[in-house]
Amino acid sequence: MKGRVQTVKKKNVLDFRRMKKEGEQVAWVTAYDFPMASFAEQAGMDMILVGDSLGMVVLGYDSTIPVTMEDCISHCQAVRRGAPNTWVIGDMPFMSYQKTDEQAVENAGRFLKEAGMDCVKLEGGRRVASRIKAITDAGILVMGHIGLTPQSSGQLGGFKAQGRDVSSARELIKDALAVQEAGAFAILLEAVPPELTAFIAKRLEIPVYSIGAGPCDGQLLICGDMLGLFQAFTPKFVKKYANVAEIEIDAFRQYIKEVKSGEFPSDDHVYHIIDSIEQFNDLFKEFEK
Ligand code: KIV
Repeated sequence: MKGRVQTVKKKNVLDFRRMKKEGEQVAWVTAYDFPMASFAEQAGMDMILVGDSLGMVVLGYDSTIPVTMEDCISHCQAVRRGAPNTWVIGDMPFMSYQKTDEQAVENAGRFLKEAGMDCVKLEGGRRVASRIKAITDAGILVMGHIGLTPQSSGQLGGFKAQGRDVSSARELIKDALAVQEAGAFAILLEAVPPELTAFIAKRLEIPVYSIGAGPCDGQLLICGDMLGLFQAFTPKFVKKYANVAEIEIDAFRQYIKEVKSGEFPSDDHVYHIIDSIEQFNDLFKEFEK
């Protein structure tokens, strides 16, 4: 694409399996729109998640619950346009797969057909194993997601770390095994202790990725968190690589100041006439009151 920095070849499921085998880390972020996706691709990101976190990061909801299939499809389409050469994961929103296997297959298919996604992600362990199997049987790659699952944060008592005691860790190990057994090509662990993550990553054959779960086969961060765009709260596991909100607010303040003072626009920011000023003055006379 014109003006685009040359990027590496688009990775696929075979690359992710090989990377796990060879101990090569996968780096990925969320993105929700064309520019963010384009920047992630230009930086050489291994994969991108169009998370339903878009509800909180870009739509201003206080949870992911209100996010609809239409929201997700539209943001996935923008991300695909911005990152045509990157593996992109479409996140299935709340109530798009919870009802039946058929509903899950139908909606997973929309991510591929309407938005060009490479795979889908859905939250849950044993309780969604039949959904993962049904979607996989339809020929669609699925990434599992266990631990802190934001769509069921109400049941978890909030956005809380999971698997910190032996009994809940046992449940998470069973969930991870069930997700692999159901056919998922990879699994994401969110906010679980690194000791548990290391065990699951070693025990499973499929790649195990982390968001706030310590080292394993790769790391995910929410772009709004790592870039300092999301101001409502910052989870403990986030490392901020930039403070883009501060840069934007400073730029807006400077712009307001220059507009008010008349410093902007200057002669550099206008289109000059191509006929003579005399001709223009004649024109203006025609229309004077
Ligand atoms: O929606 C999202 O961005 C996610 C992450 C929290 C893992 O699912």
